[in-house]
Amino acid sequence: MSRKPLIAGNWKMNKNVAEGAALAAEITAADIDYSTRDVLFAPPFTNIYAVSEAVKKNGGKAFVAAQNVYFETSGAFTGEVSCDMIKSAGAEWVILGHSERRSIFGETDEVINKKVKKALSEGLSVILCVGETLWEREAGTEVETVLAQTGKGLEGVADLSKVVIAYEPVWAIGTGKTASPADAEAMHKAIREYIGKIRSKEQAENIRILYGGSMKPENAKELMAQPDVDGGLIGGASLKAADFLKIINFDK
Ligand code: 13P
Repeated sequence: MSRKPLIAGNWKMNKNVAEGAALAAEITAADIDYSTRDVLFAPPFTNIYAVSEAVKKNGGKAFVAAQNVYFETSGAFTGEVSCDMIKSAGAEWVILGHSERRSIFGETDEVINKKVKKALSEGLSVILCVGETLWEREAGTEVETVLAQTGKGLEGVADLSKVVIAYEPVWAIGTGKTASPADAEAMHKAIREYIGKIRSKEQAENIRILYGGSMKPENAKELMAQPDVDGGLIGGASLKAADFLKIINFDK
């Protein structure tokens, strides 16, 4: 089977309500062939509703994701947001395990795994982020690190049909440094083979693996040309409509 590319914009802590709605409206008003690619916006929680409404006005073909969610259903968890809340605001997806959540907010593989299981049980689709630090790459432990994060993140998850993996080398995020297409491909292939081992050949063949880390209009085509790169998780370049559209239309 051929995997449908997914171009996902992680807005991180950028854009207020009006700015976010305007950005989503501008992008979804453009010519996008949704039959050959999926497009996703991950705004901050405060923007999910407005972005979803903007997307709906332009045909409702793009997906909306939260950038995080809590693993409990409801209750005394000040500052946290539940799966039901993000779904009720219009999100069908959630990004989990981003390296900024891991390094700045101390999320462990165990916490991320709880979130993955909770999100899937609530019917959300999940983008699970994995990636090594520069230190780990220089020590030659990058594959081991990434496969361990993948395995732990997916522990107890038998069905991967609503899971996407995003490989984001930490040293490439927001730095302007991109993994070479060959380095990205090597890691994506290793992840796919590992999924084949821990689940099944069929699930490995079907799962989408995105690349993230300074993906931009200038390098998107070459990265997307790699056989195991099935899309991108884009930070900085997803905040400008023209740049994000060029990445969405990487093959045009
Ligand atoms: P940049 O594209 O800004 O490097 O961010 C990548 C990223 O972390 C997406 O989740």
